[in-house]
Amino acid sequence: MTLRVLAVASEMSPLVKTGGLADVVGALPGALANEGVETRTLVPGFPEVLHALGAGETVLSFDDLFGGPAWVHAGRLHEAIVYTLIAPHLYARTGGPYTDAQGIDYPDNAFRFAALAWVGAQIAQGALADFAPDVLHAHDWQAALAPAYSHYSGKPRPATVVTIHNIAFQGQFPKELLAPLRLPPASFRMEGVEYYGSIGFLKAGLQLCDRITTVSPSYAQEIETPEFGMGLDGLLRARAEIVNGILNGADENVWNPATDTRIVARYDASTLSVRTENRTALQKRMHLDADPDAFLLGVVSRMSWQKGHDMLLANLPSMMARHSQLALIGAGEKHLEESFLAAQEAYPGRVAVWIGYSENMAHLIQAGADAFLVPSRFEPCGLTQLYALRYGAVPIVSRVGGLKDTIIDANDMALQAGVATGFQFSPPTAETLAVALCKAQGVFKDKKTWRKMQSNGMGADVSWRHPARRYAALYREAIAARS
Ligand code: ADP
Ligand code: GLC
Repeated sequence: MTLRVLAVASEMSPLVKTGGLADVVGALPGALANEGVETRTLVPGFPEVLHALGAGETVLSFDDLFGGPAWVHAGRLHEAIVYTLIAPHLYARTGGPYTDAQGIDYPDNAFRFAALAWVGAQIAQGALADFAPDVLHAHDWQAALAPAYSHYSGKPRPATVVTIHNIAFQGQFPKELLAPLRLPPASFRMEGVEYYGSIGFLKAGLQLCDRITTVSPSYAQEIETPEFGMGLDGLLRARAEIVNGILNGADENVWNPATDTRIVARYDASTLSVRTENRTALQKRMHLDADPDAFLLGVVSRMSWQKGHDMLLANLPSMMARHSQLALIGAGEKHLEESFLAAQEAYPGRVAVWIGYSENMAHLIQAGADAFLVPSRFEPCGLTQLYALRYGAVPIVSRVGGLKDTIIDANDMALQAGVATGFQFSPPTAETLAVALCKAQGVFKDKKTWRKMQSNGMGADVSWRHPARRYAALYREAIAARS
């Protein structure tokens, strides 16, 4: 029997994306279809979403959704149905999904995402004649009130699942918003939406849902500790029996070097020498010296404390002294952007920095860099190291979260057994990174071993097949637990 899932999320690739959440939400409907699960996804009607989907059919309307009229349009992305919540007073803005053009959070974010969750709960509880979901699946804090709204509605509800993509973002708002957010007075308690005296969106979802997932087994363990749990570790320990770590996959329709039209030359593990053409093109496009022997490191990332770029900056002088190059694309915290731009000035032709966002350049870096660096302090799953595996850019990663679970470290045993796919360092510090960089560069000079590592990575199964099976089983388990 086909299972019906309503996914609720604030990002969905390729409609709107600021990070890996979008990639996951975009890939899941297709991957789950193979497991007998029909997924429809509700996303906010941000301008870019409306532009990409075009006019849709109105399937629901609301006279007053937190301060203005709103509609739900049904559209299609590939095979799957996407519901867009059109609410101009909440989403028709010129900045990004969460912040204005200056990078400041919108002051009404509580309402912008409560609206998404509230409409998600309505659909989950039968507001649409042709779609009665068996499962309501909320992604991250922006959607996490959906299980809470359906819990407090007093009406029959489907099984509910909340996925934590990053526990650092929790959606915390003043308690005075309780009634304006349409939450009942009785919900403001520890067993409800209350969180250290405020309203916690993620907390509420985690407290009131039937199943919790996060995006790797290691992160599932980490967030139950005070070091990584960011205040929610106690709740997660108390609900440990329903916490599951399910790894993300790489969408093979988007991240496949054999078919990728964003790169210069297509290749697979048997035609690895063709990869050089992408390397040369990357050096040219990023104004790096046309140096065939340099150790070319790639980085594609948001720039934030989480991602550990300060450790990379600390290592640049020694890397440069050792015949390396760096190709980096990213945007985020201003002090990091400025430091990397200064490094580009200091090492012309050897350090190339692109501040901004470009899918094309992200793909070319994966296809052209020798090694791919992810020095995160914490990493729920991480997708770029999966893409690097697929593209033959050998990952160098810190041993945390999903990075730990997806890369096989090139220690002596793994090298001897011929199974290594990358390099790990731990704990994440500039010093341990320095050792990993030196080691990687040493192996890079041994062309045979390097090529073996590249083809190991390209052969690793990082597809959505296994994760999709796990989600389907989890949905069935959540339904069974309710009946
Ligand atoms: P996170 O979600 O924490 O940012 P992930 O590794 O899960 O980290 O996902 C990041 C996604 O965003 C990947 O698809 C990556 O290619 C993309 N990305 C990050 N920064 C940029 C950028 N500056 N330009 C293009 N793509 C980017
Ligand atoms: C978050 C995490 C990242 C994860 C992504 C998708 O943004 O930071 O590690 O891969 O979500 O689940």
